[in-house]
Amino acid sequence: MPSPPSHPTHLDPSELGTKEYWDKYYQNDLDNADVDDEDEIEDDDQPDPSDLESWFDDVGAPAKTLEFLTSETFPLSPNYNHSGADETSRSHHPSVLDLGTGNGSALFALRFEGGYTGRMVGVDYSRQSVELARKLARQYISSSRSDGNVDANVESNSNSKTSGTGEGEMSFEILDLIHDTPSEQNWWPEAGFDLVLDKGTFDAISLSSATVLDSATDQERRICEMYPAKVLEMVRPEGFLLVTSCNWTEDEVVSWFTNADSRGTTTGKFEVYDRIRYPVFEFGGQKGQGVASVCFRKTADESQ
Ligand SMILES: C[S@@+](CC[C@H](N)C(=O)[O-])C[C@H]1O[C@@H](n2cnc3c(N)ncnc32)[C@H](O)[C@@H]1O
Repeated sequence: MPSPPSHPTHLDPSELGTKEYWDKYYQNDLDNADVDDEDEIEDDDQPDPSDLESWFDDVGAPAKTLEFLTSETFPLSPNYNHSGADETSRSHHPSVLDLGTGNGSALFALRFEGGYTGRMVGVDYSRQSVELARKLARQYISSSRSDGNVDANVESNSNSKTSGTGEGEMSFEILDLIHDTPSEQNWWPEAGFDLVLDKGTFDAISLSSATVLDSATDQERRICEMYPAKVLEMVRPEGFLLVTSCNWTEDEVVSWFTNADSRGTTTGKFEVYDRIRYPVFEFGGQKGQGVASVCFRKTADESQ
């Protein structure tokens, strides 16, 4: 008898699982962006990250995730109350990687509202998304500099293999999370990122009908099956991953990521660290949240 799959049942594919959909989506945003790079930003027209379109805004997910990541209890938070905590294992300028960054709104919120000051990289496979996020970044950074609030640079490292991304820099890069290798990119930090974010990207990948050959089993697999293991490699040992999904329940998100099999390229695995609570609604006798945010912590590297 064949053994049962180690993951929840697949979703039916939809156009949200195609690159063409996202290219058009962000091209439309680019066409409608009202500030050109060269435009002056008026003092009374300061851009506000919470005005940007962000996935799952209707259920308050961007605000809830920001509140979680900047709370006194989250170890990477600038507001972390570290009395009694192990200071040696704490990064004061945590690096952040945003997977499927879209317009970059999650990183802008962390930087310009949340007080995160470390390196930030937003990646997306859509060139239009990256172009839009870079354009918005230049706008935010020039506006916050004129305010004297935040010291940050926006860098594009794609054209130069040798340019590093220093502390405090923010960059947006084209990367296909399934087919590219992040550790081969010039912006990759050796040990991986302290904090990795995914809001709606695993959802989009789960809606793709595309398959890849899994060399370990010599079988074709839906790309969402390969994704959790790829993400595991991007988080540094003892670092964090926050996944926000509306297509999978909290338990399904937990099942996908705690079963991530790294195929020997990292010794760690994901363990549930915390979950964000959303208002519960009842429909047809079933209770649900509509959206799930689960925070995972990667275990320490046992080979050290
Ligand atoms: C639902 S949107 C979420 C955007 C953003 N995270 C937010 O919360 O507003 C999903 C994003 O994932 C990106 N995406 C989907 N598949 C991808 C892949 N294989 N590699 C990189 N980005 C991908 C899409 O281009 C899109 O920007």
